[in-house]
Amino acid sequence: MNRLAALEAAMGRAAPVLEPGHVWLAGAGPGDPGMLTLDVLAGLAQAEVVVHDDLVDPRILAMAPATAELRFVGKRGGRPSTPQAAILGLLAELALAGRRVLRLKGGDPFVFGRGGEEALALAAAGIPHRILPGLTAGLAGLAAAGIPATHRGVNQAVVLATGHAAEGAEDALDWTALARLGQPLLLYMAMRRLEAVTAALLRGGLPPGTPVAVVTEATRPGQRKLVSTLAEVAEAVRGAGLDAPAIIAIGGIVGVLGGSGR
Ligand SMILES: C[S@@+](CC[C@H](N)C(=O)[O-])C[C@H]1O[C@@H](n2cnc3c(N)ncnc32)[C@H](O)[C@@H]1O
Repeated sequence: MNRLAALEAAMGRAAPVLEPGHVWLAGAGPGDPGMLTLDVLAGLAQAEVVVHDDLVDPRILAMAPATAELRFVGKRGGRPSTPQAAILGLLAELALAGRRVLRLKGGDPFVFGRGGEEALALAAAGIPHRILPGLTAGLAGLAAAGIPATHRGVNQAVVLATGHAAEGAEDALDWTALARLGQPLLLYMAMRRLEAVTAALLRGGLPPGTPVAVVTEATRPGQRKLVSTLAEVAEAVRGAGLDAPAIIAIGGIVGVLGGSGR
């Protein structure tokens, strides 16, 4: 039985068909191939070209057919990422050439993944496309590390936020408002600005002892988890030499399961 037939047998339904000239915008999850959805696996089995960013785990790329062309459009070795316009141009060019295209992104394409922009551009160009969700690092990566996004009696909401925008920037977040919310924050892309973000939350009124977890390389072989407090986490991260990619969880959910998870 080939891989597609095995998937269909496992799902009890036909796999979606990746037609020539179509683009699937798909999420690869946080890293571990076990967190791929079966539909994304079906996309990988049918793709002629996989256009991927740097957060897609190499073990997942290795699951593409040997004949598939892998096109890397992320950041590498500190070099800037491929401009979004170039990615959109490449997707259109491949689709118009009649290729079966899998646009594969880390996590979920619609969570800080610019998947919406790509879907809009494909729609504007009249290119048939489909969205295949993935497990986002902020939820699945933390869960795998033993941190629940919600826990009864601890929180009634959770905020997914990016720490990327510098204070004063047009798209900067109101950290005081987030501190006042009193609900856990799950931060993406916050490692470079951890000091500024934690200082802003402290100024906003979050207690210095608020638990914080930093999970780097979640679900990958190099996963590391550091637990600290809001006042001390920036220094602890420096001391431990932790680097991106990381999800940072701030709030009472951090300690509820003790040492569960990896
Ligand atoms: C451009 S965003 C992409 C998010 C992705 N679309 C998702 O849904 O997970 C990149 C950020 O996602 C987070 N991230 C992605 N994969 C991760 C992983 N395996 N471990 C920890 N953080 C991860 C990091 O905060 C990283 O800086």
